[in-house]
Amino acid sequence: MARVDYQGNAGTFRTHRTLPPDVLAVWKEAVVRAAGPAPGRVLDLGAGTGGFLEPLADWFGAAVVAVEPSAAMRDEAARAGLTGRHPYVGAWAESLPVRTGSVDVAWLSTVIHQVDDRDQVFRELRRVVRPGGVVALRGFLADVPATGLLGAFPGTERVAATFPSTGEVVASGQRAGFTVRHVEDVVEPWRVELPAWRAGVRDLRHVDSWCRALTDAEIAEGLRSVEAAYAGVDGPIASDVTLRLLVVG
Ligand SMILES: C[S@@+](CC[C@H](N)C(=O)[O-])C[C@H]1O[C@@H](n2cnc3c(N)ncnc32)[C@H](O)[C@@H]1O
Repeated sequence: MARVDYQGNAGTFRTHRTLPPDVLAVWKEAVVRAAGPAPGRVLDLGAGTGGFLEPLADWFGAAVVAVEPSAAMRDEAARAGLTGRHPYVGAWAESLPVRTGSVDVAWLSTVIHQVDDRDQVFRELRRVVRPGGVVALRGFLADVPATGLLGAFPGTERVAATFPSTGEVVASGQRAGFTVRHVEDVVEPWRVELPAWRAGVRDLRHVDSWCRALTDAEIAEGLRSVEAAYAGVDGPIASDVTLRLLVVG
């Protein structure tokens, strides 16, 4: 599938995809337990609009460097006031402008399914992550089905099959010299207002990795079935979403 173009959508991405505090709290617990400590430097690779920068700095008490190839995403991070506090470098994961052995933890949140050359990305990660350091991935993976409200959309199994599996990601890591340290399914407790959620689906129709691969009919059917299921419900709806944490080192 063609590369995602975030031009014109980065602000919407930040609005709908920035993790709320309750969701960040479960990731903090899981990531610090599985990947910490990181005394020196954390690399946020494919940092997008920067929603993990302050959390990573807080979780690890470390300096955070962001690498993000999309100018639209970097500009949006700048508008959010994040680029002054953390270096925000325009580059691709396949060729990192980062010193060899200078990173304690590399964090990739919903990035690995988008990269063109996964083996090359892991070779670069092996180079920049110091011996004893780790790579922690929050993944959209083929063997983790769509959950939460997204599970109501027909066609998500087909979309999931376009993502790499855990085994394929692990194999790329192993070819670069990493071994698996930890695998965990993290349940994100999203609580969403239906109108805002519906707007998110529509606004990110051609950007979100799940939505863009669904057909218009599948999107319409998913929206219809969620609205029918929650008709008359006033207030936030629980949408627990499972993503996999994979740590290699
Ligand atoms: C779904 S967004 C996730 C952004 C952020 N990590 C987050 O969780 O909010 C995927 C990001 O990966 C970036 N990306 C895609 N391919 C990449 C590559 N080869 N190297 C580095 N970043 C890449 C995109 O530009 C985009 O910002």
